[in-house]
Amino acid sequence: MEEFLADLRDWLRIPSVSSDPNAAAEVRRGAEFCAGLLEKAGLDNVRLVEGPGHPLVVGDWLHAEGKPTLLCYGHYDVQPAEPLELWRTPPFEPTLIGGNLYARGAADDKGLAIILIKAVERYLRAGKPLPVNVKFLIEGEEESGGDHVSLYVAEEAASLRCDAALICDTEMFAPELPTICVGLRGIVYGELIVRTGETDLHSGVYGGTVANAVEAAARILARLKDEQGRIAIDGFDADVEPPSAEEQASWRRLPFDEENYRGAEAKVFALVGDPNQSLFARIWARPALEVHGIGGGFTGQGAKTVIPCEAVVKLSARLAAGQDPARAARLLAGAIAAAAPLGARSEFRVLHMAAASVIDPRNALVREAAAAMQEVFGVATVFTRSGGSIPIVGLFQKHLGVGAVLCGFGLPDDNLHAPNEKVYLPNVARGIEAIARYFERLGAL
Ligand code: BES
Ligand code: MN
Ligand code: MN
Repeated sequence: MEEFLADLRDWLRIPSVSSDPNAAAEVRRGAEFCAGLLEKAGLDNVRLVEGPGHPLVVGDWLHAEGKPTLLCYGHYDVQPAEPLELWRTPPFEPTLIGGNLYARGAADDKGLAIILIKAVERYLRAGKPLPVNVKFLIEGEEESGGDHVSLYVAEEAASLRCDAALICDTEMFAPELPTICVGLRGIVYGELIVRTGETDLHSGVYGGTVANAVEAAARILARLKDEQGRIAIDGFDADVEPPSAEEQASWRRLPFDEENYRGAEAKVFALVGDPNQSLFARIWARPALEVHGIGGGFTGQGAKTVIPCEAVVKLSARLAAGQDPARAARLLAGAIAAAAPLGARSEFRVLHMAAASVIDPRNALVREAAAAMQEVFGVATVFTRSGGSIPIVGLFQKHLGVGAVLCGFGLPDDNLHAPNEKVYLPNVARGIEAIARYFERLGAL
C-alpha cells in the first residue's frame, strides 16, 4: 500500500489538464508516467500511441489462452483546477487527510484507473499468471472531448477485440454500497455566438432602436426549455428508449432521501425538472439541456452603459439511451437558428458529441463483477445509471460490439471537476481486491 500510494501521489502531482493548450508538455508527462506504471505492473507491449491530440497509453498481457479478454480503459487527463482559491490544499500537491487523498484527478480518474493497474501488478510482479487476458487503453482527452481515442478504436478494432471493457471511472451510489453503473448519458456540446452588429453602442443614444446581443442570447436560450425545465424542441426526445419497468422498480429500492440529496449533496435551494419523471429518470434516463456560461457585455466593477454587440454561450445537451447524437445536434442547431430575434445573427458550433450507453445487468460479465464486489464489501452490489458521460463507451459498443463493466469506487462527495477533489483510499484498496477477485472469477468461468 505504501508503494502504491507513492505511485499515485507522483501521478497526481502532474497537472495533466487536457483542455489547456499550454499544458501539453505536462499532459505528455502524465502519459509517460502512466506508461511507467504499466511497465512496472508487468504488462507487455507498453507504449505511447501518437496521433492527433494527446498520446494514448497502451499495453497488454495475453497469455491466458482460452480465457476472457478485458479491455481496461481509463483516462490520465484531468479537469482544470480553477478556481484555485477555493482549494483547502494545493490541487497538485496530493494531501492525505483522514482516509481521503485530496488532489485534482484523485477520483477522476487517476486514483480509480490505478486500481486496474495495481490489480494486474499484484499477479505479474509476484510471478503469477493473470487468470484473464487484458488490454490496457488509457487516454488523455476524456475531459476535453478530443477524438484521438475514438479514431484509434475505429482503426484498431481488430487488435482491440475483447469480451468486455472494464472501467473504474464512476461512483458508488452511497458509502459502503458497491455499485455497478449500467447506463451513462451521451452529450452534444456546443458553442453559440450571437452578434447584433459591428461594435458595442451607447445604451442611451441607441437604446430602443437596436438589438442587444446578450439579451438576444437570453431569448434564444429561454426558448429551448419550458418553465419546468423540459427541453422544448419538437421531437427532441422522440428516440429516447425508456428504462424497463423492472429497472425503474430497482431504482425505487435504492437507499435514497430526496431532501438529503437536495440539501446535503447538491446543496441547492430546490429540485427542478419534469414533474412527470422520477428524479432518477431525470438524471439517468432523460435528456437535459444546460447552459455552462454566458460571456458578453459589461460585468466589471461599477457601472457602464453599453449595448453589447456580441455574446458567447457554452451549452450542452445530455442525451438519454437511444438518442442519436447527430440527430440531437441537428435539432438543437435548428431550434437555435429559429429562435434568433430580429437583429440577431447566431452561429452554433458543435464542439464534440457522444452517444449514451446501457448494458444489461444480467450480462454474465456484469454479474461476475457484481459478485466480486459483494465478496469484498460484504453487501449486495446495486446497479445504477449515471447522468455523466464517458464518450468512448458508446464507441466500444459500436466498433468492438462489447459493453462496458463500470465498477464504481468513487463516492458521491468526491468533488469531481470541483475544488477539493478527493478519493477515499480504503475504497481504492477494496477496489484492487475486488478487481483481482473479478479476474479470478472470470478465469474460473
Ligand atoms: N468520470 C466522468 C464521468 C462520470 C462521473 C461518470 C461520475 C459517472 C459518474 C468523466 O470523466 C467525465 O467527467 N466525463 C465528461 C465527458 C465530457 C467532457 C464529454 C462529462 O460527463 O461531462
Ligand atoms: Mn472520468
Ligand atoms: Mn471527468
